Amino acid sequence: MNDDFTRVLYTQDAIDERLAQIAAEIDRDYRDKDLLLVGVLTGAVMVMADLSRALTSHCQMDWMAISSYGAGTKSSGVVRILKDLNTDIAGRDVLVVEDIIDTGLTLSYLLSNLESRNPASLNIMTMFRKPEAVENRVDVRYVGYDIPNEFVVGYGLDYGERYRNLKGLATLAPHIYS
Ligand code: PRP
Repeated sequence: MNDDFTRVLYTQDAIDERLAQIAAEIDRDYRDKDLLLVGVLTGAVMVMADLSRALTSHCQMDWMAISSYGAGTKSSGVVRILKDLNTDIAGRDVLVVEDIIDTGLTLSYLLSNLESRNPASLNIMTMFRKPEAVENRVDVRYVGYDIPNEFVVGYGLDYGERYRNLKGLATLAPHIYS
C-alpha cells in the first residue's frame, strides 16, 4: 500500500511520543477524578487504545457512533446517533477522544448533546486538528498535532473505509482519490 501515499506526516513513534506528554497532562489534570473517556467511532479507536494505555491513573471507556448527513467528504454538522453511550454521564468527568477535528461541526453537535446530560466536566482531546477547526475556535483542551489541510489517512482515519490500520498518518496520493 506504500504507493498510495505521498508523504508520512507522523510516524507511530512520533504519535506515541506526543501521546505520552498528553497522558501526563491528563493524569495531572484528572488526579482524584473519576475519568470517563468517550471515544467517537470509528476513527478514534487507535487513539483511544494508545492514550488510555499511556495513562497511569484509572479511567473508564465508553463509545458513541454517529453519522453525519450530507453529501461529499465535508461534514454537514447534521449528526445522527447510531450508538449511544452505555454510561449515564451525569456528574461524571468526561473527556471526548477524537482522531481528528476538521470543521468542528461534528464536535459542536456532540458537545451540546453531551452537555445536556449534565456531566461534572466535559473536555476534548484530539490527536489531529485541521486549520478550519482552529479558525472556528473549537475549544479543545488537548491537541496532539495541528496538521495542514491535506487529505490524510491512517491512525484510524480512512478513505472509503481503507487505511485506518496504517500505523502513522500519511497524505493520500491524488491518483487514489481522483
Ligand atoms: C471524522 C472524525 C470526526 C469528524 C471530524 O469522523 O472522527 O468525528 O470526522 O470532522 P468535522 O470536524 O469536520 O466535523 P467520520 O465522520 O469520518 O467517521 P469515522 O470516524 O467513522 O471515519
